[in-house]
Amino acid sequence: MSRTFDPQLRRAITERIRYYNELGIYDFYRREPDSELPHEPEASVIVEHQINDPALLLRMIREDLGDCTRCPLHKQGRKQIVFGVGNPHAELMFIGEAPGADEDQQGEPFVGRAGQLLNNMIKAMGIQREDVYIANIIKCRPPGNRTPEREECETCSPFLMRQIAAIKPKVIVALGAVAAKTLLAINAPMSELRGRWFDFRGTKLAVTYHPAFLLRDPRQKKETWKDLQMVMKDLGLAVPTKAEP
Ligand code: URA
Repeated sequence: MSRTFDPQLRRAITERIRYYNELGIYDFYRREPDSELPHEPEASVIVEHQINDPALLLRMIREDLGDCTRCPLHKQGRKQIVFGVGNPHAELMFIGEAPGADEDQQGEPFVGRAGQLLNNMIKAMGIQREDVYIANIIKCRPPGNRTPEREECETCSPFLMRQIAAIKPKVIVALGAVAAKTLLAINAPMSELRGRWFDFRGTKLAVTYHPAFLLRDPRQKKETWKDLQMVMKDLGLAVPTKAEP
C-alpha cells in the first residue's frame, strides 16, 4: 500500500537513513505501526530491530527523544529529561514511576533517598547498581511529584518500550503500582500484583513495593525482600538465608 509522509517526517526519515548509512547500515524495511503503541514515532523504529547493539540502540532512542516537547511536562518546570541509566546488557531492569526533584536535578533515575534504598536493595541481591538498568515510566518530573497522568504515560512510555526492547533484560521489576499498572495495563491492588510472575511481551516481570513507599512504611521491606528473592532465584543469584536489607 502506498503511503504519503508529510514533509517533516520525510526529512526526518531521510536524515535518519543518512545516519544509519554512516554507521554502515544499508538495508531497511518499514514496519507497520504497532497498534499497542499508538504514540510510537514511526520514523525512528524502522531499523531498530535489525540492530543487535543495545548501547547503540539506547543512543539512538535518546537521540530520537531529543529535547522532548511531546507532552505538557516540558513546560511545567522540568529541568531535564531523565532517560535511564545502567548496563545496556543488563539481565535485570528496574522501572519506577517518574523522576523526582533530585533526579530532575541530576538527570539520573533514583538518585535521591528512594534511590539510596534501591541501591541497598540491589546490593542485597549480591549485584551492583552498574549491573542493572534503571528507568521510569515517564522521563520528566511531574510538578510537585504528582502521579503521572495517563496521557503523559501513554506519550512517554513508547520510548521505555524501545529501551526494554534494546536491552532485552531477562527480568523486569516494576517498582510500585504506577509502574506495574502502566506496564501490565491492569488495574489491581499491590496485594494482587506482588509475589508472582507476569509476562511482559515475552519478558518475565515481577512487581514489588516502590522504595519511596518503603521509606514511609519500612515494615513492608520484609515482603519486598521476598519479591527480590524470587527474582534472584530466577536469575541464578545466590539467595542468602538470612534477613532482609
Ligand atoms: N521515584 C521514581 O519512581 N523514580 C525515580 O527516578 C525517583 C523516585
